[in-house]
Amino acid sequence: MAMLEERRQTEELMDDPALPEATYSAVLADLSKVNRVTMAYRPTLAFLDRALADRQKFTLLDVGFGQGDMLREIARWAKRKGKQADLVGIDLNPRSAASARDATPRDMPIDYRTGDYADVARNWDVVVSSLVAHHMSREEVLLFLRFMEAEARAGWFVNDLHRHAVSYLGYPVLAGLARWHPIVRADGHTSIARSYRPAEWDSLLAEAEITQASVERHFPFRLCVSRIR
Ligand SMILES: C[S@@+](CC[C@H](N)C(=O)[O-])C[C@H]1O[C@@H](n2cnc3c(N)ncnc32)[C@H](O)[C@@H]1O
Repeated sequence: MAMLEERRQTEELMDDPALPEATYSAVLADLSKVNRVTMAYRPTLAFLDRALADRQKFTLLDVGFGQGDMLREIARWAKRKGKQADLVGIDLNPRSAASARDATPRDMPIDYRTGDYADVARNWDVVVSSLVAHHMSREEVLLFLRFMEAEARAGWFVNDLHRHAVSYLGYPVLAGLARWHPIVRADGHTSIARSYRPAEWDSLLAEAEITQASVERHFPFRLCVSRIR
């Protein structure tokens, strides 16, 4: 599809700082439903299976946690595996932390923070993100790749979308049938158009001088980048 040849630069509605808090929370709640329906957790958990196989305890940073649903899935994964997890989320949007805390059971210790990932350099074992890389410009992604390569001792994982005509045409149908929030419908469509193709990740990795990462497709229409040390 010609209009998907280049990454779209349109801003997403959920990034508007003027969005009322209740609307933002409703958007994040529906985004977590999209994540479940589209099986977004599986690639990240499969990565953790590989990257943390030999570790009984680990520290993990989730960049751009949104409603925190990926971190809750990781907490459940760690419990199943008998691993001690120190889980931290960082999100630029100051409204994410309250929304994530509200959705998190009291006995699930996850540290949700507000700010830029670059301010929480700490020698993490693992740095992950989901649906965040497509929010970044090329320069920002290069900085993010270099940050993860420098800060993640066991490995890092970028979980994002594949810019593909089938998902671009199909998502509005799915989102309409599921009656997700209008902002989730619009932003999901924009997100697909803002996301990457495999060759673009190859070029970004080459420019960041990262030679040992892999670009992997995951059903349906996820394009993920992983690095395991
Ligand atoms: C589309 S949301 C994804 C939320 C969640 N990860 C999910 O999969 O549902 C993207 C999030 O990334 C956050 N974000 C973007 N750039 C960031 C940065 N430099 N540092 C921390 N968070 C960032 C935004 O505030 C937003 O909450």
